[in-house]
Amino acid sequence: MAAIIVVGTQWGDEGKGKIIDILSRQADVIARYQGGNNAGHTVVVGEEEFTFHLIPSGILHPGKKCVIGSGVVIDPQGLIEEIEELEPKGIAFAGRLFISDRAHITMPYHKVLDRVIDEKRGKGKIGTTGRGIGTTYMDKTARVGIRVCDFLDREVLKEKLEIGLSEKNDLLRRLNSHHHLDSEKKMLDEYTGYAERMKPFVTDTSFMVNEAIRNGENVLFEGAQGALLDINFGTYPYVTSSHPISGGACVGVGVGPTRIDKVVGVVKAYTTRVGGGPFPTELEGDLAETLRNAGPIGEYGRTTGRPRRCGWFDAVVVRQSAIINGLDCIAVTRLDILDRFSKIKMCVGYEYGGRTLREFPSLLKVVESCKPVYEEMDGWNEDTSGVRRFRDLPMNARRYLEKISGLAETELCMVSTGPGREQTIKVKDVWRP
Ligand code: IMO
Ligand code: MG
Repeated sequence: MAAIIVVGTQWGDEGKGKIIDILSRQADVIARYQGGNNAGHTVVVGEEEFTFHLIPSGILHPGKKCVIGSGVVIDPQGLIEEIEELEPKGIAFAGRLFISDRAHITMPYHKVLDRVIDEKRGKGKIGTTGRGIGTTYMDKTARVGIRVCDFLDREVLKEKLEIGLSEKNDLLRRLNSHHHLDSEKKMLDEYTGYAERMKPFVTDTSFMVNEAIRNGENVLFEGAQGALLDINFGTYPYVTSSHPISGGACVGVGVGPTRIDKVVGVVKAYTTRVGGGPFPTELEGDLAETLRNAGPIGEYGRTTGRPRRCGWFDAVVVRQSAIINGLDCIAVTRLDILDRFSKIKMCVGYEYGGRTLREFPSLLKVVESCKPVYEEMDGWNEDTSGVRRFRDLPMNARRYLEKISGLAETELCMVSTGPGREQTIKVKDVWRP
């Protein structure tokens, strides 16, 4: 038995969905611990492609229990839409989906405000997903949020909605926004409908997951976003409002750190970022276009459709991530995308003020003026898509992976060579102690 956390080590979109899907085969419980439907986790099964936003990627495996923990923020409308899209594809939810009674609810005003506030930032725009994530967490920490248990009680919901709606209308007026929110009555009716739909899934998920661990079941914690989007350790303020890092799993599901056995970091073989904020190894022009469009699944946001910014692998980012997440091993994804490059660069440090930095700086203007220090390697110019054994990879691809592992000071456990389940190299059995 084991409890394993899977985290994104960069700025999100590392391919966590695929790695979770592979590891889910041996899991009994798969739990999301933070974020909301800002996440977009893609899993390809045969010819079919699934994108999950709130539902844990483990749902594709019949019989596995999937948990949405209390650290997640839930947009009921989004959740129900997601369930309704997946049901006709043969995915069953009854007795398999468990939603924390303590998770916070995203209301329509959170979504409107998220967009209005980000627009107001002008040049400093974060480029949020507009899903009301930050504004829901704002209410949560301001202690005026609506939790799932509050949401299920019409009286409590009415009371909280009354306060919330009038406060948010005031705020929108002050922001000179022309957005008009529905009346309290209309919102209450619509959201009570969602509450009825959600009710059968709601439970004390912390209790449930702790019991699963006690019973010797295998539990997988599914992180969303990535370490550099963490509210504490990311490129603040260009971050999300939750804790994607491994510690977030304990806080977000209600499991003690003593119960965790392993942390797996998902590392993209290069770097991407969607939205605003510093990105030292970002590329422009043809190189970026090639990275963006080389694979069967291009680098476009799964939640917003925005083209992702693309750049070379950045070891400063991943090393920082290895430390704050306490990574035990790394799963490197999208290696095949680099097949067509004859030269590949890796950033091993940042040049700043005549010095070479190895740690990620905290001050934004410092990060912005850092110049990446690159090491160049010969590519392998060979098709690696679908390679299933490490020793079958071209020598330079193996060197590249070993270099990543060396720079991250973390051993390699998996490599993904394409979106399909079978396009995976298992270097180490992650479930084994
Ligand atoms: P997955 O789970 C990549 C980014 C947004 C924006 C910032 C804040 O698929 O890796 P938010 O809406 O969270 O307040 O936006 O975070 N962002 C992501 N970028 N992958 C994600 O999720 C992301 N979720 C949020 O683009 O820059
Ligand atoms: Mg994604």
